[in-house]
Amino acid sequence: MVATPQSLVASGSHVRSQLVRRSRLGDRVGLRLRIGIVPRGRLELTAPRRAGYFWAAMPDTAPTPVSMETLVALCKRRGFIFQSSEIYGGINGFFDFGPLGVELKKNIRDCWWNDMVRRRDDIVGIETSIIMHPKVWEASGHVAGFADPLVDCKASKQRYRADQLFFAEVVVDGKTVGYVSALESERTAEALQEAAESLKRKKAIQGRLEPVAPRDMTEAKPEEIALIPSPATGEPGSLTPPRSFNMMFQTNVGAMSDASSVAYLRPETAQGMFVDFKAVVDTGRVKLPFGIAQIGRSFRNEITPRNFIFRSREFEQMEMEYFIHEDADWAKCHREWIDWCRGWLVSIGLPESHLSEYSHPREKLAFYSRGTTDIMFRYPFGVQELWGIAARGDYDLKQHEKHSGASQAMFDEATKRRIVPHVIEPAVGVDRIFLAVLCAGYAEEDVTDEKGAVEKRTVLRLSPRIAPVKVAVFPLLKNKPELVARAQELHRKLKRRYAVFYDESGAIGRRYRRQDEIGTPWCVTIDFETIEKDGTFTLRERDSMQQKRIGEAELFALLEERVY
Ligand code: GAP
Repeated sequence: MVATPQSLVASGSHVRSQLVRRSRLGDRVGLRLRIGIVPRGRLELTAPRRAGYFWAAMPDTAPTPVSMETLVALCKRRGFIFQSSEIYGGINGFFDFGPLGVELKKNIRDCWWNDMVRRRDDIVGIETSIIMHPKVWEASGHVAGFADPLVDCKASKQRYRADQLFFAEVVVDGKTVGYVSALESERTAEALQEAAESLKRKKAIQGRLEPVAPRDMTEAKPEEIALIPSPATGEPGSLTPPRSFNMMFQTNVGAMSDASSVAYLRPETAQGMFVDFKAVVDTGRVKLPFGIAQIGRSFRNEITPRNFIFRSREFEQMEMEYFIHEDADWAKCHREWIDWCRGWLVSIGLPESHLSEYSHPREKLAFYSRGTTDIMFRYPFGVQELWGIAARGDYDLKQHEKHSGASQAMFDEATKRRIVPHVIEPAVGVDRIFLAVLCAGYAEEDVTDEKGAVEKRTVLRLSPRIAPVKVAVFPLLKNKPELVARAQELHRKLKRRYAVFYDESGAIGRRYRRQDEIGTPWCVTIDFETIEKDGTFTLRERDSMQQKRIGEAELFALLEERVY
């Protein structure tokens, strides 16, 4: 996971001469991924409450496999996500969130903030600046080591992350007859094998082709580099040896543009919590164990942004640093936070069946790191890191103590000692959760209408907690003023508290379909019975498509129960 210092070259004084490789094993699809499924935990606080009514729980079966093309098209068509600066041809790795996207994103953030900060007594929130003193990033190790290995193709001017560019020797009857390459994908090994067979055919070589043994470019021997074909041209000779590429965006503060004014857009929000640690301790009446949380934008000049918003250059993080006594049982605390994070993901609608865990092998951890576990999600492009939970010891606070000269020790009431606490860090990207809930929630179904005709419906099964629109209100007919007036009145009342939508155009069935596609959990229809009888209206539930009559008080009670 973490591209923080723990998997980097750590501090400036601990520079490895070899290429810095971020420990992003979780990002490597297929070939190397080992995922262990472990018992899952769930905190009562955030576990989804099962309401009465006819709410169908979020399905834990494999949802319809959805292609990224389908999702991207839906996001564009319904105003969830647009390519940034699209009228100028777009800018790679940056995205805009449209009217529905911004609501969904806000709901994800709000749920996290409420559960992580407001509903707990041991965690406080802060918001720190995006541009911090440049020494912060020297102390954290980012200036020295926040880097990915980069390979250039001199012929095509394409750039590749070396650990995502794979190659293999083509061996026939024990003799190497050439090399093949392929970019990382779900079928990297197959692609390399096919390329090897094709090369053998092209060169008309007789004999037995051995199965390929894929390696990535960081593992290439110097004498092999010139023999490996570029994926862009298919020809060898144009790839450069891997070199380290720092991913922090640089800028200048003030009118001067020289070395003294260099600053960085933060690549993670976490350092804000470490740098403000003492300020919070001195003002916040906190005592161990306690956490400091923050939500905010982070920026990384990713070499290969890809998979839509999964890996972008500007994204949003929700991070929490949980400070514990140096003698505390860190492994137990780490496990508790992994369980909390899994439980929280389920509470916002991700199916357990799509979640798994990956524990980074000890030998891959930075020297100060005690353990890192990633919660993985099954995206359409593979099982990938969603949330990283790292046990970071006292590394960060000690580094800032060393570089700033300001003591980071706090008085611990329980032991009556001044100590520098250790930290457990759950760090997640809002955009990755956004993408995960879309992937898990998307379904295409055959449904039969009132006249018996079968039609397709697209439905986004989003949890009511995060759905961008909670209720859509319809008058049965738009040319009946009494229905319209009652529907508008209900709409007005609901929108004081909830994101709701009023729609009077088209047949009811079409109106339902439009809401299904954007994930609205409930639709309410005002009809003649509402006006002429008991004031009840039809409540239609998105997933089951069941309908029942319900009154206003019951509707508000349902929302109170399900939207929290
Ligand atoms: N402070 C620790 C840290 O930043 P990280 O694993 O590098 O660790 C934490 O990032 C989370 O941020 C990841 O698990 C992922 O959800 C999200 N994230 C990281 N890089 C991202 C990118 N380029 N685009 C979108 N989300 C990203």
